[in-house]
Amino acid sequence: EKGGFDHFMLKEIFDQPASLTDCLRGRLDVSNLTLTLAGVDQHLSVFTQAKRIIMVACGTSWHAGLIAEYMIETICRIPVEVEYASEFRYRDPIIHPGDVIIAISQSGETADTLVAIERAKEQGAFIFGVVNAVGSSIARLSHAGAYTHAGPEIGVASTKAFTAQLTVLAMMALKIGKAKQSISEEAYKHYLTELSQIPEKVQVILSGHESIREVAQVYAEANNFLFLGRGYNFPVALEAALKLKEVSYIPCSGYPSGEVKHGPIALVDETLPTMFIATKDKYYDKIVSNIQEIKARKGKVIAIVNPDDSAIRGVSDHVMEVPETDELLAPLLTVIPTQLMSYYIGVLRGLDVDKPRNLAKSVTVE
Ligand code: M6R
Repeated sequence: EKGGFDHFMLKEIFDQPASLTDCLRGRLDVSNLTLTLAGVDQHLSVFTQAKRIIMVACGTSWHAGLIAEYMIETICRIPVEVEYASEFRYRDPIIHPGDVIIAISQSGETADTLVAIERAKEQGAFIFGVVNAVGSSIARLSHAGAYTHAGPEIGVASTKAFTAQLTVLAMMALKIGKAKQSISEEAYKHYLTELSQIPEKVQVILSGHESIREVAQVYAEANNFLFLGRGYNFPVALEAALKLKEVSYIPCSGYPSGEVKHGPIALVDETLPTMFIATKDKYYDKIVSNIQEIKARKGKVIAIVNPDDSAIRGVSDHVMEVPETDELLAPLLTVIPTQLMSYYIGVLRGLDVDKPRNLAKSVTVE
């Protein structure tokens, strides 16, 4: 059942070229430049007229929501808020007519998310579910939705569900942006083409797993870990920190790189590894100077970069390469080396990566 892999987590990481292909199948048609998402198509005007979109989720799914915030604001020019379900539900949130709630959940059974959308539904919000588990409670409670079609995810640490969530959310943003005409035909075509190439690019990263394992070996005994990124790669830094702490029990934190000077830089010394998610985007030069600030304090730097990078390669201790894509889709690629590194470090520390202590696959209690 693990398909020849030692753990479900590794199998599910390696499933991603196939799970992403499944997620895109029958939806993205590059030759005709169409996107079919029945749940969005049937309610298109709800989305195009939305005054605000509120994402509600927990954990890894919340990180997918943060990335979708950037996507939807860029492509659709609709204001987005991203809420932790556990906070949203207790806060007596302000919900206006015309607000759309997107609930994101792998299991579709997370109690906090479920209750949050029940409350929002009572107040008249339109609820859209981005869910992996077919027929789950959140899927049933939603007015409409789009399944992520990642297949069963057994490992407690979420991996393939996350990339499928991003793929669905990107398709939603593009569909709504096209309908609202908030992006040009040319940009739409560009994004569709890039999106169609993601599964094969994920495969390229997975083929380089051996060099990622070598870096993991160097840092398997670390006592602390920092993850930094900007823009679309900022939530990837948060996700990478969550993943590594879940499976290795190493204290990890993730920040936007611009925040480091406001506090976290106090942690930096020669024992602290910092991972920068630093693919080519509009923040590239800023990231280079953030890396120099860490190196000046003798910190160790691992950077996720594009193949043609030279500036960051020159100042980092280790690099992990991912193919180039548009910055809006970069998280689908940059998260992969972080998943692999977390897995290898957890295994090197002799831990049960599929069932970390104190965690359950779906959190059905408040
Ligand atoms: O099933 P859900 O997506 O609603 O679960 C949300 C979180 O409990 C989940 O992502 C959790 O943070 C994972 N253990 C992350 O790896």
